[in-house]
Amino acid sequence: MEKFIIEGGRQLYGKIEPSGSKNSALPILATAILAESPSVIHNCPRLTDIETMRELLHYLGVRTEWVADHTLRIDPSDLSSYEAPYDIVRRMRASVCVLGPLLARFKRAKVSLPGGCAFGPRPIDLHIKGIEALGADVTVEHGYVNAHAERLKGTEIYLAGAHGPSRGATSNVMTVAALAEGETVIYDSAKEPETVEQVKFLRAMGADIEGEGTGTIRVRGVNKLKGAEFSVMTDYIEAGTYIVAGAMAGSEVEVVGDVAENLKPVLARLSETGCKLKVSDGSVIVKGHPRPSPVNITTAPYPGFPTDMQAQFTAYLSIGEGTSIITEKIYPDRFMHVQELARMGADIRREDAVAVITGVEKLTGAVVMASDLRASAALVLAGLVAEGETHIRRIYHIDRGYERIEVKLAGIGARIERVEED
Ligand code: EPZ
Repeated sequence: MEKFIIEGGRQLYGKIEPSGSKNSALPILATAILAESPSVIHNCPRLTDIETMRELLHYLGVRTEWVADHTLRIDPSDLSSYEAPYDIVRRMRASVCVLGPLLARFKRAKVSLPGGCAFGPRPIDLHIKGIEALGADVTVEHGYVNAHAERLKGTEIYLAGAHGPSRGATSNVMTVAALAEGETVIYDSAKEPETVEQVKFLRAMGADIEGEGTGTIRVRGVNKLKGAEFSVMTDYIEAGTYIVAGAMAGSEVEVVGDVAENLKPVLARLSETGCKLKVSDGSVIVKGHPRPSPVNITTAPYPGFPTDMQAQFTAYLSIGEGTSIITEKIYPDRFMHVQELARMGADIRREDAVAVITGVEKLTGAVVMASDLRASAALVLAGLVAEGETHIRRIYHIDRGYERIEVKLAGIGARIERVEED
């Protein structure tokens, strides 16, 4: 296994460019199997999760091939299986987003339950509610969701759950509705930019769909969809991670990409901490502001503060002035980073879904363990400012969602290297 060794205290300066969005690319790759002809996806990030999705597509009989550095061609013309096996789904729960496309193509699907992950349960009850409403009979047994439908018919569905709308459930319902008979209206649908991009891709494939970003998506089913060419948007969570790195350790860092609109809630809170930002269409320039003023944050569905930036912001506020309170409303257990940051000297008290952060002057380097993707990114950020060396173990978690993060950060002056675990 590999680890990162980071020497803290280096000033970051210069331009850093995020890759294409992981959470936009994954549902789009699954959606491509709705068509009977090939799609070409540009700006697709080179990540472990993308390779896992490719492995699943190959298992289903779908050919995929990198035809350029970040361009993936997907050919579903020989799609032959409707089963997504446990061994693949357990490695990446986003694999569940093939459930809708398989049901739409075969009128049946057998998809392994994803199981939990580092930060608690990841239910799929809303996915099941949605496809049942469209006419599927669903049983859950032996660790698999088995869905079967004589006919798939459009209907009206209220899709939000206790924690608000669901991106994954919206994805699966839209993909079934795209080939179902009649009109489907999805109320309380996800409004995240990734869902907006997936609707644009569906439209490019010939789907009759509207309402993206509004919370109500209308789909009129068609008989067939065709492959499309599409370019994945910049990963605004990756960009947000580098913007926080610039705030923590930067003198001046320019994060390239059209991400400001998607990061509005994060940039607004950064400004409230006293951080100076220069926002334009093509980039965000952040000046170092290593002792942020306290802010209180509650994560929420888009356009609220994204849960995927919570761990990174916790790392930032841990070196701030005063006391900040972070409430995690999407994944109440998403605090794997707290204990590891505490090993570096952070003073964070967790009470259920709330983290009370008392800012400290400095963090000190330590050996820490990566866990979920964003908790691991938070440890990288902490390592950039900690006194001395930080060793981050099990960095395969980071490679799932950050393409060559050590190369990109070294490009703006960080002292970070990837070595084999001794
Ligand atoms: C997506 O996961 C992202 N993953 C996650 O990013 C992100 O944290 C999450 O959305 C929330 O924004 C991808 O896009 C691949 P949801 P998803 O269904 O679709 C509850 C990362 O770090 N819920 O929108 O699985 C759920 O427990 C990853 O890149 C139900 O109760 O999330 C959560 O509280 C981690 N029942 C809330 O809804 C369901 O059937 C939102 O979940 C489905 C979800």
